[in-house]
Amino acid sequence: MSVRPPVLVDIKFNPEGVARVLKTAFADRGSINLADPVDRARDLRAVEYALLWKPDADLFSRAPNLKVIFSGGAGVDHIIGMAGLPDIPIVRFVDRSLTTRMSEWVVMQCLMHLRGQYAHDIKQRRREWAKLIAPEAAEVTVGVMGLGILGQDAVAKLKVMGFNVIGWSRTRKAIDGVETFDAGELDRFLAKTDILVGLLPLTPETTGFYDSGLFKKLRRDGALGQPVFINAGRGKSQIEADIVSAVREGTLGGASLDVFEVEPLATDSPLWEMENVFITPHDAAVSEENALFRHVEMQIARIERGEPLQFVIDRAAGY
Ligand code: NAP
Ligand code: GLV
Repeated sequence: MSVRPPVLVDIKFNPEGVARVLKTAFADRGSINLADPVDRARDLRAVEYALLWKPDADLFSRAPNLKVIFSGGAGVDHIIGMAGLPDIPIVRFVDRSLTTRMSEWVVMQCLMHLRGQYAHDIKQRRREWAKLIAPEAAEVTVGVMGLGILGQDAVAKLKVMGFNVIGWSRTRKAIDGVETFDAGELDRFLAKTDILVGLLPLTPETTGFYDSGLFKKLRRDGALGQPVFINAGRGKSQIEADIVSAVREGTLGGASLDVFEVEPLATDSPLWEMENVFITPHDAAVSEENALFRHVEMQIARIERGEPLQFVIDRAAGY
């Protein structure tokens, strides 16, 4: 019986969780965990499958016989553009646990802006009993940018909460009860949007995309008074200096940001202390290790059964 090469794991998050779950994952072939000092020095030439999140720069020269790359997350921008990236399939992480987490975060942020949570927090600290009368969700239009796996789930859950939801994507999608727009209809989409939710991947087209020009095109006479920007896609899609000035000048009434141009967000960023700006540390939808390793095991089993891989990215589109 031929011995299967181990799976290479180079994941730069939650090393304890990764090490714990790796004890039982890939039982039929074993693994090499580059976060483990003993494994770090191992010969990677026989490795065929690699599970990566922000891998070492020399990884592809050390592992020249890879057949498939698995991303440790839904996004692949941490791999695309790396020197020596081989022309092999890149599979992204798609899983209910990740999708559900993202929708929880998106719905929570939309509700916090709808119900004036920032103002409530201030009143609470002052021990003030002050009622705030919020509009109904149905009076507010949430515009979701990116109608992929995460965007479509968020749309469905926002609709359950009663929001009027519209969506925008590169190619038009048909979603029951949701007005959708394609890339050429950006301005029409923005003009109808009170709360903008960014769930776009980072590509050359989406780099620096959320800027002051875009914020000025959002609807200004909606039930919230001023539009709100929410982003959990990628930080390099936003111009943070423009978010700061848009909130200061009132072009935006607030923001919720999970991702940043540079992470971690610098301690001296003005965003930390801005009114009605909610900051989370890129944990809107973390990859849970059990689910992640199970997904990779399932994809490897598909290859070995001669079935096509799922969730392979389009290299030309970059996502
Ligand atoms: P996906 O299924 O690939 O969907 C991407 C969506 O974006 C698609 O609807 C696509 O349009 C649209 N799109 C891409 N480029 C576009 C462009 N230039 N103009 C207009 N629309 C464009 O991805 P996903 O699984 O939903 O994930 C989206 C992103 O979320 C990931 O790439 C990652 O960056 C981010 N993410 C963040 C976290 C977090 O914790 N903050 C967690 C997971 C993922 P088409 O439908 O026409 O292809
Ligand atoms: C997280 O940011 C992911 O891409 O899964």
